[in-house]
Amino acid sequence: MSLSAYLEARRTEIDAALAAWLPAPPETPAVVADAMRYSVTAGGKRLRPVLCLASAEAVGGDRASAMPAACAIEFIHTYSLIHDDLPAMDNDTMRRGRPTLHVVAGEGMAILAGDGLLTEAFALLSRHAGTGRAADAARTLRVIQVIAVAAGSAGMVGGQALDLACVTSDPSGRPALALDADGLRVMHGRKTGALIRAAAVAGAIMGGATDATIAAIDAAAAELGLAFQIVDDLLDVEGASHDLGKTAGKDAAAGKPTYPALYGVTQSRAMADACLARAETSLVRAGLTDSRLLDIGRWIVAREN
Ligand code: IPE
Ligand code: IPE
Ligand code: MG
Ligand code: MG
Ligand code: MG
Repeated sequence: MSLSAYLEARRTEIDAALAAWLPAPPETPAVVADAMRYSVTAGGKRLRPVLCLASAEAVGGDRASAMPAACAIEFIHTYSLIHDDLPAMDNDTMRRGRPTLHVVAGEGMAILAGDGLLTEAFALLSRHAGTGRAADAARTLRVIQVIAVAAGSAGMVGGQALDLACVTSDPSGRPALALDADGLRVMHGRKTGALIRAAAVAGAIMGGATDATIAAIDAAAAELGLAFQIVDDLLDVEGASHDLGKTAGKDAAAGKPTYPALYGVTQSRAMADACLARAETSLVRAGLTDSRLLDIGRWIVAREN
């Protein structure tokens, strides 16, 4: 099967599971359920859930057991996009080819829809911990820990805080943060790498991988996560809003710390390629080349949206 056919097949399964697990009335008021559904079903590449399922498959596991983790991570990712786009953060009006949620539902509802998606991710995971085999329950508990740490202040939230602190001086007058090369890599690792790593690791855990294999997948995914954000920065410079489904050219306008801003376009591209090469080394060492993980890595680097 070609990679595009594989992605298409997995996205179909993921979209069906997301639709089924999104909160709905009467348990959830329609105003916030509709807002959550608007952003989740707007499309998106579904990279993180695909990676989660591919990782479970790569270690010989059953991908159905990884589906709750895959969807929980996509809920958290979507919440991060909703909040990232708010006027108080990146102030974006287009996302996934649609007006951003705060534009159509208001800032308050966008904040609450994000809060709802984050919380629902853990409700979904913990619900599934009780339904499968005992081994699945123990694995799910470990996955909850991995995802919580990746999404939280040591991971994505921490990275977003650094990103924000670089472009704003806070009301108490603390000046904007300046990042050196190491600081930029760490920020990207937190704001984007952490959740991508968690997706791959969660799939490996649910698939029953050994700790050594989980560590190799984690190392590879850390490289892919950094590559992903370097390419995101490059697309902001080189891409067109129409293809990206979001406003291009915003990073330079906002003075964001990015790879192209620090290294230029050519060197940034080479650095993304180097990440992919290091990811490949980890996967080869762990004997994981006969899987979709490397193909997904190549797609991360070559993608145009
Ligand atoms: C965008 O993520 C935000 C970043 C972390 C760079 P994606 O490019 O994966 O967004 P969707 O899910 O495809 O919309
Ligand atoms: C966002 O990074 C990372 C998140 C955790 C949401 P960006 O701000 O570069 O993402 P885009 O370009 O708006 O999708
Ligand atoms: Mg941002
Ligand atoms: Mg943004
Ligand atoms: Mg960006």
